Formats: sequence, structure tokens, C-alpha cells
Amino acid sequence: MGKDVIIACDFDSADKTIEFLDRFEDKKPFVKIGMELFYAAGPSIVSEIKRRGHKIFLDLKLHDIPNTVKKAMSVLSHLGVDMCNVHAAGTKRMMQAALEGLTRPDGTRPLLIAVTQLTSTDEQTMRDDLLIDRPIDEVVMHYAHNAADSGLDGVVCSPLEAGKVHSICGGNFVTVTPGIRFAGGEVGDQKRVTTPAMAKELGSDYIVVGRPITAADDPVAAYDRCIKEFIG
Ligand code: C5P
Repeated sequence: MGKDVIIACDFDSADKTIEFLDRFEDKKPFVKIGMELFYAAGPSIVSEIKRRGHKIFLDLKLHDIPNTVKKAMSVLSHLGVDMCNVHAAGTKRMMQAALEGLTRPDGTRPLLIAVTQLTSTDEQTMRDDLLIDRPIDEVVMHYAHNAADSGLDGVVCSPLEAGKVHSICGGNFVTVTPGIRFAGGEVGDQKRVTTPAMAKELGSDYIVVGRPITAADDPVAAYDRCIKEFIG
């Protein structure tokens, strides 16, 4: 399985995104398109970035009744993305339905990964708002196990959880890890951060990097630094 650096293109328009990607010239970084860009620019931004030769992680975090998710995934499968995701909280039945919807008539499909608990949810919030009394680590690993059991390819998690996820779900189960910062860099709203080099040590398969690249004076140099530290 390929290790890679995924750039979170959290922009609010197609123009800003294309202008940003133009700076990379012949380099074709793996790109994450989230809700902001997808809702602002529509599905055509996916085809446009794909046409330019990038791999795409479509981060829409689906969570609804199984039938609705299955049909939505079937639509997304035709956009030609390489990776997409759902909330594991939607249950195993929903994850299995997502997988069915995503599988194209020829049997191929993008990677499907699950969000366990969002990094914005801590143990206290889980207890107070969601009435989940278990330790957050146990909940994350249980959701990862449910995702693996449902046939999904991996989870979004912290690099700090990557090793444990691999030990529970297997070495081939993909860990996609945000919360990446360079040593001494701005942390912003991320709570538990890891450097690209540290993420490599911890066994992450893909790191998702947003502002350390998108807000850098020289985004291409910042991307190159991520590749060097994470892949070598
Ligand atoms: O700018 P930054 O590097 O913090 O961006 C991280 C990206 O990863 C953002 O697009 C954010 O929405 C996403 N993400 C995250 N934590 C999660 C899931 C996704 O930071 N648990």
C-alpha cells in the first residue's frame, strides 16, 4: 500500500483551489476535497482536479440511513475519486450499504474509510452529549473494528492511534491521519499534533496536511518537506 501526503484543499472556491494547485506544476499531490469546497464548487471540481492528474480523497463523511448512503455512494463512485468516507457511528449496516453503493458494475471501487470519533469530540463531550460512558480510546478502537468487520479499508485517526488500529484491525487496514504540524509550527485549532516524521514512526499510511502547506509562504517547499520527512 502506498504511503502518501494528502493536501487538505480547504478553499471556498474552484478558482482559489486551481490557483493553488497550479503552483505545483508537474507535481501532482494527492488532494483532499472536503465539504466546504465540494458544496461551494459542486461535483465538477472533482472532475477538474482528476483531469489535472491528481488522486482525490473526497471527505464528505456520510452518515444517514443505509439506503440513502448506498445511493449517495453510488453517485460518488462515478466521480472517479480514489478515497471517500463515512461516519462509523452510522453502524455496520450503513457501512456495508456504503460499500455496496460504492462498488462499480466492473467490481472496482475507491477506498472507503470511516471516521471514528471526530478529533473535536473529547471524552467529556462524548459522555455529556452522546451518553457514551466508555473511555474514548476504547470507543475509537471499537468503531475501527466495526469498520474492518464491515469490509471497509481503513479509518481516519490520530497518528497516535495508528499503531493500535493496525494491531487490532491488521497491518493492511489503512490509517489516514490529520493533525500534522512541523516542529515549532503554528498549531491552530488542532489539539494533539504530530510531525510528519513522527507520523511515519508511528505507522500512519497517509498524512492529511492542510494549513502547514496551504498557508505556507512557499506551499510547494512545505509539501516537499512533508514528503521528505514522511516518505524519505
Ligand atoms: O489545516 P489542518 O492541517 O489542520 O487540516 C486538517 C484537515 O483534516 C482538515 O481538512 C480537517 O477537516 C481534517 N480532519 C481533521 N480531523 C479529523 C478529520 C478530518 O483535522 N478527525
